[in-house]
Amino acid sequence: MNAATQFAALPKVELHCHIEGTMRADTVADLARQHSIDLPTSDVRSLYGYENLTGFLEVFWLVQSMLVTPDDWERLAYESVIDGAEHGLVYREAFCTPSRHLLDGQRLDEIVAALDRGCARAESETGTRCRLIFDIDREFGPEVALAHVTELAALRRSGASGADRVIGLGMDSTEIGIDPTTFAESYALAADVGLRRTAHQGENSPATTIAAAIDVLGCTRIDHGISVFEDSELVARLVDEQLPFTVCPNANVLINPDVCPQLDAHVFPRMRDAGLLATLNTDDPALVGLDLTQEYELCAAAFGYSVDDMVDIALDGVSGSWLDASDAASVSASIMAVAASIPSAT
Ligand code: HPA
Ligand code: ZN
Repeated sequence: MNAATQFAALPKVELHCHIEGTMRADTVADLARQHSIDLPTSDVRSLYGYENLTGFLEVFWLVQSMLVTPDDWERLAYESVIDGAEHGLVYREAFCTPSRHLLDGQRLDEIVAALDRGCARAESETGTRCRLIFDIDREFGPEVALAHVTELAALRRSGASGADRVIGLGMDSTEIGIDPTTFAESYALAADVGLRRTAHQGENSPATTIAAAIDVLGCTRIDHGISVFEDSELVARLVDEQLPFTVCPNANVLINPDVCPQLDAHVFPRMRDAGLLATLNTDDPALVGLDLTQEYELCAAAFGYSVDDMVDIALDGVSGSWLDASDAASVSASIMAVAASIPSAT
């Protein structure tokens, strides 16, 4: 068995994946046609080259704007899970960031119910599970965020259709110059309704923002977090606490080449060597042209990881997840069972 088939067969979880960033290029083109939206080119994939996070976000927002009706959200979720399952994904905690859509008049209850239907249909076909993290789009500021999180809290409190699939609050989009603590009210409300908390920090922002997200917003996980080495005391503390980082090495290189020019210089192995709980994820697989198996293959090759190392990484994905103990144990067991059948993973 070569490395490619080993990592394809290995059951994998993913904790940092934007559902909109999984939209198939053909679906982007199809929805653009259905909704008479002009695309800058008929070759959607030709848009997927980036100089920095700002340029990437423009493409991400264009892709997001294809989601006009509940059926579009349902299709996105369904195809997302089907495509993940093809590459060994068994469990995902996926972000959705509907701020723009809500500001445009779409309804959160309809979006959540539609995502739930799409996930449920794909789950019953594949066995791959997907739960959702509602992400604030920082671009629109704390007041808009609070209005949207208030709506989400009401859906949870009323037991609205699909609301229990949303298990966490996060925030993404622009990091530069934004103080995460200005979103404290949204995070406090999320805690009140039992949502777990995470935030994209340290992709384009200093280690101080990672500490603020943890200490002020109550985040129990950090998305990216690659600037953490600016603060050695913070590193020591987060090693001690085993706070999970959801790291996306290939996406960092493809989206953010000014910060991460090449994969073999990425801080992911340094994070793991330091003892941080750094997990491996794709971020926006369709928009960077990579699936989770390729993420594993490329990182194994670039960082000199053995199959055993990659199995450890897969298991750390489970440790960093928000699965309850019995579900986590069964996903870990499925990883170990396949690992045991891979000759070099002893
Ligand atoms: N960072 C910020 N916003 C995003 C990202 C990311 O990596 N992916 C999709 N939206
Ligand atoms: Zn991300």
